[in-house]
Amino acid sequence: MENRKLAYINTWGCQMNAHDTEKMKGLLSLVGYDFTDKQEEADLILFNTCSIRQKAEQKFYSTLGMMKALKQKKPHIKIGVTGCIAQQEGDNIHKAFPFVDFTVGPQNISMLTDALEYDSYVSLITENKQLHTNNLPAIRSDQRRAWVNIMYGCNNFCTYCVVPYVRGRESSRPYGSILAEIGQLAEANYQEVTLLGQNVNSYNGGCPFHTLLEEIQKIDRLKRIRFVTSHPKDLNDELINTMATHNKICKHIHLPLQSGSSRVLKLMNRKYTFAEYIDKVNRLRLKIPDMAITSDIIAGFPTETTADHKETVRALTEIRFDGIFAFKYSNRPFTKASQMEGQVDELVKSERLKEILELQDNISEEINKRMEGGTYAVLIEECTDTTQNLYSGRTQTNKIINFNSPRQLAVGDIVDVKILNGYRHSLDGCIVNT
Ligand code: SAH
Ligand code: SF4
Ligand code: F3S
Repeated sequence: MENRKLAYINTWGCQMNAHDTEKMKGLLSLVGYDFTDKQEEADLILFNTCSIRQKAEQKFYSTLGMMKALKQKKPHIKIGVTGCIAQQEGDNIHKAFPFVDFTVGPQNISMLTDALEYDSYVSLITENKQLHTNNLPAIRSDQRRAWVNIMYGCNNFCTYCVVPYVRGRESSRPYGSILAEIGQLAEANYQEVTLLGQNVNSYNGGCPFHTLLEEIQKIDRLKRIRFVTSHPKDLNDELINTMATHNKICKHIHLPLQSGSSRVLKLMNRKYTFAEYIDKVNRLRLKIPDMAITSDIIAGFPTETTADHKETVRALTEIRFDGIFAFKYSNRPFTKASQMEGQVDELVKSERLKEILELQDNISEEINKRMEGGTYAVLIEECTDTTQNLYSGRTQTNKIINFNSPRQLAVGDIVDVKILNGYRHSLDGCIVNT
């Protein structure tokens, strides 16, 4: 039998990065690697990094620092840095941590196995405009739900965001290649796909985004279609109509608002005003009344005043999102906002973030409580307790439901669950009609 090696991969960041890890696993497997979650036994250690905020970056550097001792003890192991910090920093990582063997940027993961061939340090971080033509094999972390790239990069240059600099220019994958991949996934018994792109509404790989969704709906056996992320400026009535009339498309949209102040939105280069955003939310809700809407909010963007912040608070009260991710503004390299005057004090940012999160927690809890007594179709994602038949799954609206069942169920099945209690971030219930 061939002598297989072991790789350990630590992944930070968004779903796109998590899916890149799945592809890197696919590539590594072809050249003789299996995978371990024990760092000590690995021959190859990969850090697939995220640089969206300073905190993410700091966490990575402190973890990387700890590798020095390991490498001294076992000089034969290879240590590689991939993902967005690899792209952002390039050789700087090796300069500060000379034990790093290679850096590979997110646009170069198809060359990961080439990097392993080098005896000395190598950095592969060149711009790759042909990313969408790579159909890399993936070893997926889930057997029923799959991520599928539909586009790469971003052209929006929101002034706070590092993504366009580390992920390159936007390019759409041809729809034929996407449909072929999803067809194969459905054949392999995958129930749900999540389409990935920084701005899926501007997809243009041979057809518009809503047409792509309509084609995916036709794929037999597939049950659910999700997508992230939608940019409000490109959300159009065609997409809303398609969502309303195609039953496999989940009734959930992640639509990052970022700020309730149109003045701040302009400085962020988001290309919509708050009034325009609200108009899109109203159109969505008019066509699809049970639509769940979630969002991202940034607290303390440069020059944000108390009045601007209050507009964000008012926006949350008015819109009543199902849930949000909220972050303190963080200065990122290359970005325009990092050069702006009027950076907001850390303490002020923290206070604003706290107010935003507390308000949203209450709103989410109220919305979830209102689901009590209702029955919803839940796709089972995991068995959380085999002895007691406890399961966890999601509704089409992306609510996490924990529930029990008198009999054993299979992950991937869709079952009807009656909601007993709604909490801030989850709900619990019991199965009906077994
Ligand atoms: N392409 C997606 C989001 C990608 S990043 C979109 O445009 O919606 C995910 C979220 O991180 C963003 O929506 C934003 O809220 C947050 N984010 C990005 N850069 C940030 C920064 N410099 N500081 C704080 N939050 C940031
Ligand atoms: Fe960043 Fe804006 Fe692109 Fe999203 S749309 S990835 S926030 S630049
Ligand atoms: Fe994703 Fe972080 Fe890169 S959010 S695109 S892994 S900077």
